[in-house]
Amino acid sequence: MLTSLTSEAVRTSMLSVRDLSVEFRTRNGIVKALENISFHIEQGETVGIVGESGSGKSVLALAILGILDRAGHVTAGEVLWSQQTETYNLLKMPEKTLRQLRGKDLSMIFQNPRVALNPIRKVGKQLVDVLRCHGDLPRNQLKQRALELLASVKIPDPQQRYNAYPYELSGGLCQRIMIALALACSPQLLIADEPTTGLDVTTQATVMSLLKGLATEQQMATIVITHDLALASEYCDRIIVMHAGHVVESAPTHPLFNQPHHPYTAKLIAATPEPHKGFDQLIPILGSLPDLRQTNLPPCRFISRCDRATETCQQQPLTHQQVGPDHWVRCWHPLVN
Ligand SMILES: Nc1ncnc2c1ncn2[C@@H]1O[C@H](COP(=O)(O)OP(=O)(O)OP(=O)(O)O)[C@@H](O)[C@H]1O
Ligand SMILES: [Mg+2]
Repeated sequence: MLTSLTSEAVRTSMLSVRDLSVEFRTRNGIVKALENISFHIEQGETVGIVGESGSGKSVLALAILGILDRAGHVTAGEVLWSQQTETYNLLKMPEKTLRQLRGKDLSMIFQNPRVALNPIRKVGKQLVDVLRCHGDLPRNQLKQRALELLASVKIPDPQQRYNAYPYELSGGLCQRIMIALALACSPQLLIADEPTTGLDVTTQATVMSLLKGLATEQQMATIVITHDLALASEYCDRIIVMHAGHVVESAPTHPLFNQPHHPYTAKLIAATPEPHKGFDQLIPILGSLPDLRQTNLPPCRFISRCDRATETCQQQPLTHQQVGPDHWVRCWHPLVN
């Protein structure tokens, strides 16, 4: 059955990204970083976005929030944000209104916390700034709330760290400050770009449980961008797999890991280390992502790495096929078990 992703479910979701395309105009050519990306997320849902380095995960997050680099341009699509009875296209929203949403209702944990934090302002003050700007607490409660936020992300001795500058803290602590900043105003949607990269496994579990708790208690929707398939499988309700600027597969977590339909998803899972797998059982994905500056990119950008590819994949435009309940795949020759 061939069906378009822009279904009724997409229209009524808290956030619906529809046919989004992004290009970067560079001196060496136009980088087609995202092409026709569509997905949706509901209140309280945790959706994982996985894929190799360079597949477009961060660009997608930045495009949703309207904070792409100057060279980046949205060339098509819409980002629909639904609130009770109203739906807004974030891409068309005036910058001033969007700025009010960012940091409050829409929040992001950036991939590189050291770059995202203000290097010349104490971290506690940065938290107070966000609370003052976007929250509704009286002035005399701001510091107390900032300390509570530091404690909630398991920062040891919050009173002392409140007065630290980012350069005085380890990468892992900066990461946790970033998370506290993102959660400060109880956002409705959190985009977490590699939220646990610099953290040890115990803190990773604490942070992910905290995010999961907020999803349940406050119905916060969370997009978790990660390389860590084990983490995605444990914490996410649904997974979106990206390759070279395309969404190649999306499905609820269990079916995606148990019955991947896109050859790339299957290879990604086979290449993931697991405690019981020896190194000799890991199968690397051969080849690399295509150069996204090419003018004649094929409809399937996985073609040169795929052992199931045929002439059709080179020539025929692709749409997403539904292969199960909320399970979609973008492939002419999906795996069928
Ligand atoms: N400012 C920019 N100028 C030109 N190209 C860019 C720019 N930012 C990103 N790109 C390109 O867009 C593509 C997607 O990059 P992106 O950072 O989204 O990848 P990613 O999936 O987040 O990778 P990683 O897992 O390493 O973080 C890459 O080809 C990248 O080179
Ligand atoms: Mg990234």
